[in-house]
Amino acid sequence: MTAQIIATQPIDGQKAGTSGLRKQTRVFMAPHFLENYVQSILNGIGGASGKTFVVGGDGRYFNDRAIQVILRMAAANGATHVIVGQNGILSTPAASHLIRKLGTDDGFILSASHNPGGIDADFGLKFNMANGGPATEAVTQAIFEQTTTLTEYRILDAHDVDLAKIGETTLGDMKVSVIDSVSDYAAMMSELFDFEAIRALFAGGFRMAFDAMHAVTGPYATAILEGTLGAPKGTVLNGVPSPDFGGGHPDPNPIWAHQLMDIMTGHDAPDFGAASDGDGDRNMIVGRGAYVTPSDSLALIAAHAHLAPGYKAGLSGVARSMPTSGAVDRVAKAKGIPCFETPTGWKFFGTLLDAGKANLCGEESAGTGSDHIREKDGLWAVLMWLNIIAASGHSVAVLMDNHWTTYGRNYYSRHDYEAVDSDAANGLMDHLRSQLGSLPGHHVAGLTVTEADEFAYRDPVDDSYTSGQGIRVMFSGGSRVVFRLSGTGTQGATIRVYLERVETSPNQLHLTPEEALAEVIAAAEELAEIKTRTGRDAPDVIT
Ligand code: G6P
Ligand code: ZN
Repeated sequence: MTAQIIATQPIDGQKAGTSGLRKQTRVFMAPHFLENYVQSILNGIGGASGKTFVVGGDGRYFNDRAIQVILRMAAANGATHVIVGQNGILSTPAASHLIRKLGTDDGFILSASHNPGGIDADFGLKFNMANGGPATEAVTQAIFEQTTTLTEYRILDAHDVDLAKIGETTLGDMKVSVIDSVSDYAAMMSELFDFEAIRALFAGGFRMAFDAMHAVTGPYATAILEGTLGAPKGTVLNGVPSPDFGGGHPDPNPIWAHQLMDIMTGHDAPDFGAASDGDGDRNMIVGRGAYVTPSDSLALIAAHAHLAPGYKAGLSGVARSMPTSGAVDRVAKAKGIPCFETPTGWKFFGTLLDAGKANLCGEESAGTGSDHIREKDGLWAVLMWLNIIAASGHSVAVLMDNHWTTYGRNYYSRHDYEAVDSDAANGLMDHLRSQLGSLPGHHVAGLTVTEADEFAYRDPVDDSYTSGQGIRVMFSGGSRVVFRLSGTGTQGATIRVYLERVETSPNQLHLTPEEALAEVIAAAEELAEIKTRTGRDAPDVIT
């Protein structure tokens, strides 16, 4: 087995977005594309010599082929040991945990998260560092610089490693360990949560539906919920990962998880419903007829996390991304703990978690997690809810009602305009930017603007500065609209409009989000001229 040095040229567009490099699958499969990017990563971190890596992915189309390439390149670049999930499967949270537990240098996670999979859909590659979290901005930039100057990559001329068989083998001088994808993660969950109480809940007839959306959490949820916790067989729906996620869109929100929503709003709905995304880091929580927004879920967890054994000492602090609603801020205030507001992207929580400034984080984009790993964690959130339900004896609906009565309710919705012409989207943002200085004091659709800015963040731990993170317009009374361009799309631009209104009057806590947000929605349109600038009559997705 010899290491080959292959001459190549820089390939345009190898710049990681909010969460790794995400492209159409055929782009990733094009000659040298994957190889160039992997070599750029290895060069960007100062080489692979003597290093150890965790490798795994969400099982989407090209997962297996990409892993074989990464293994051969790691070996050719002098890595000493790579740990791979069986059949190439590792959820993002499980990979983050393994990096930390085994103390590897870094990890490669193959996933385009909640984007559809298949040869005509999307593929992605995320690079995580020794703390288990996504590469920092500085490392991401160093990798990108490598992609623009690369002239060669190294790859071993070798046969495929058998990823179906658990055990150890070698590839050139490098050790390859194929490990069970689920067991380490499941063991960690049993330490964080009161499995006895959750087992008793299921034994008492509590019913749940978990939609794995044909994606990576299937094996994890089946082992933990139906195996260890004794939930009835059939609790996990769509539990076998498929390369194209059953032709679906593995994004756990009421639109894409409509099968679960139908079950939860139907006749004979179970007590609790949940779903996770392609790579297992997102979650959706739904009670019987009661969808919980990710922002509310974060706030509810912040209020009750002490009920779970792993968090019984209380929280050191909480953090949320800027577009996430301020519901968790109210809980933090009541508990007297700090609440950090960061740019969108889990990587911005890493320093806070490492420094112990916060140990619960969440985002409106259906991510929730804690300092147990350095990624958001779909099943963790589901188990946290189960623990809270078991310990409190309350249903999801009662928990949320009590929460709103105590803290007030942050009505919240997100409107997405997808695959918009990039120039039109940038024009819309430029137009908003140009108004910022003059907005305070103005009336827009019956609301008075109190503040308007473009969000920027100075990290309180490493002092790094990130600007251009979304335009916020605040109104008197606590309503807010945020405009931001997505960093995860693969076609054109996606405009996200985040709408929020705070309500504390006891008789105003049960409006529909559309009713409650009508004025804010009208103000967003007036400010951004969405219809005329994008040519769209309505959002493509409302969550
Ligand atoms: C990924 C990241 C999240 C982030 C989300 C935002 O899922 O892991 O941390 O919140 O992207 O996506 P967007 O499309 O809004 O940039
Ligand atoms: Zn994901």
